[in-house]
Amino acid sequence: GGAKHPRSGGFSFEGPFGTFDQGQLQRGYKVYREVCASCHGMDLMYFRTLAEPGGPFYDPHQENPAANRFVKVLAAEAQVPDIDSETGEAIMRDGVPADRFPNPYPNATAAAAGNGGAMPPDLSVMAKARHDGANYIYSLLAGYRAPPAGLKVGPGQYYNPYMAGDLSSYWEGDAHHVPVGGFIAMPPPLQNGQVTYDDGAAETVDQYSKDVAAFIAWASDPKQVQRKQSGLGVMIFLFLFAGVTYLSYRRIWKGVA
Ligand code: HEM
Repeated sequence: GGAKHPRSGGFSFEGPFGTFDQGQLQRGYKVYREVCASCHGMDLMYFRTLAEPGGPFYDPHQENPAANRFVKVLAAEAQVPDIDSETGEAIMRDGVPADRFPNPYPNATAAAAGNGGAMPPDLSVMAKARHDGANYIYSLLAGYRAPPAGLKVGPGQYYNPYMAGDLSSYWEGDAHHVPVGGFIAMPPPLQNGQVTYDDGAAETVDQYSKDVAAFIAWASDPKQVQRKQSGLGVMIFLFLFAGVTYLSYRRIWKGVA
């Protein structure tokens, strides 16, 4: 029983001084858009958020995220649902930076029906919803393995050692050596060469998995780097202030008793 402990994605944003790698976030967005977005929504994300400070398409020369040239193009590539203001009919139109990421399915019932009964969860805060989120997402995506001989895999199910589960009732082998991991209803979504990168990064399942995990980690908490940096500033201030306070204490009490 249980799941394999996630492997480390070696992420730049871990630790108290970590920051997001903007190139990695751009690649991760591309993987999300071209692969994951056909099944998974990110309902809390707006296109303009991509251009906020620390985000994948932040441009220091363009302070208004909604005017960011990359984000305008990326939003326009997506089709978003709307109501025609004249006819009142439901239509699809090109996205604009103020739009939310469109959901691939109209509702949860349709999402489950399209995936053999298992609803693809929203990925907006997935890195917070799972323990050790970024490393987990990386490990899960890159971690699909052929099921060990003796494991009965049902239709629409895939074996993954990083997925939590208990495989004992599907295991025909030695009861003391039940395989670690579980079944997941998501088919392995990534293949080598599937997404084109223009920055020379490796076009492999391993790299795609790291990049999209980093993107989801950023989306789950876009302000985390700013928060760490202001926390560091507060610590430096308090340290200096303590020193100044101590020196003035020494001066005030100089020569007293
Ligand atoms: C579940 C990520 C592509 C269908 C999940 C989970 C994550 C994830 C993190 C949750 C696993 C858990 O419960 O711990 C991604 C990413 C993708 C991707 C990053 C792109 C690289 C896809 C695609 C499909 C899909 C293309 C549809 C063909 C599903 C389904 C589940 C799921 C049905 C629910 C599985 C279950 O509950 O057994 N995905 N996914 N995913 N995904 Fe994906």
